[in-house]
Amino acid sequence: MADERATVEAAREAFDRDFEKFADIDLNGRGLSDIEALLREVGEIKVRHTGKKSALAESKKLIGKVPPEHRGEFGRFVQSIEKSITERIETAETTLNESLSRARSEAERLDVTIPGRRPRTGHLHPITILRQKIEDIFVSMGYAIEDDREIETDYYNFDALNIPQGHPARDSQDTFYTADGFALRSQTSTVQIRAMERRGAPIRIIAPGKVFRRDTPDMTHVPMFHQIEGLCVDKGITMAHLKGTVTEWLKRLFGEDTVTRFRPSYFPFTEPSAEFDFSCFKCHGTGKLDGERCRPCKGSGWIELGGSGMVHPNVLRACGVDPQVYSGFAFGFGLERMAALMFNIDDIRHMFENDVRFLEQFR
Ligand code: DAH
Repeated sequence: MADERATVEAAREAFDRDFEKFADIDLNGRGLSDIEALLREVGEIKVRHTGKKSALAESKKLIGKVPPEHRGEFGRFVQSIEKSITERIETAETTLNESLSRARSEAERLDVTIPGRRPRTGHLHPITILRQKIEDIFVSMGYAIEDDREIETDYYNFDALNIPQGHPARDSQDTFYTADGFALRSQTSTVQIRAMERRGAPIRIIAPGKVFRRDTPDMTHVPMFHQIEGLCVDKGITMAHLKGTVTEWLKRLFGEDTVTRFRPSYFPFTEPSAEFDFSCFKCHGTGKLDGERCRPCKGSGWIELGGSGMVHPNVLRACGVDPQVYSGFAFGFGLERMAALMFNIDDIRHMFENDVRFLEQFR
């Protein structure tokens, strides 16, 4: 009898040792995977100490082997041990399962009252802002907007614009060439030719777009930039129309008191030719701002903007327009330096670096 009791006691002690950490376990702050691991561990203990091959199962087999007068007492003893073991395991499992479902719902918790995240609003590029303003002005003056190709032949970039092979004007507009004889256009003047070929005269268009030149980037140069070309061809168009048109759109862009100035110049595709300047929008042409030299116009009071002139008869002829019947004016200017002045950007390279922090500043 004493031997049998000792066997049962040993089984209980073995269980006590294995189960020790679960005796009064504190599950506060335990994570989901932690609790899952503990549950697995309890499961293993259960198999080891109450399963078919457990010491407890062996103990139950002993009941039939003790002398009949002790069998009742021994049986109750084994039963009480078994009951205590299974109860403790069940309690641990219940506690762990409760913690598990609490941890699970905590992990999946969804706070439907949290305000949504606003999508970041996009911003227009300063060049786009300026281009759209100028487009609106010209559309309101009856001009159509022409869009055309950036990859051109020599003919459209130069020859048709009265710049034949060997003409010195080709040098200052050196661009990028493809292996099969195409060139990236160096000026939007190409669209004058394309638009007149397509529509003939009379015509009133502006052509905004990208142009390319073989320039080394610095604060005021980039190898790709934007221009807007203007062309107006009709019967009886004179230089007065050119001056009136340029003066008007600059007033609409920079304000009624803007003054425009024309300086004689030379372009192969216009005759006569003129460059146009406008009175500085910062100092209103005085050259001084708060007693200091005005920055945008460098103290001159004028900002140089672009080229213009009366369309050369050779250009009209190249597009099948009779210069005896029609005359017209054209002009062209770049957008980068203008945008840099308007938005106070000290280096035009910023415009092509795609840094959203830069872009977010403009509306
Ligand atoms: N294409 C010239 C340039 O890139 C600008 C220009 C000058 C355009 C005179 C014109 C014009 O239409 O008539 O420098």
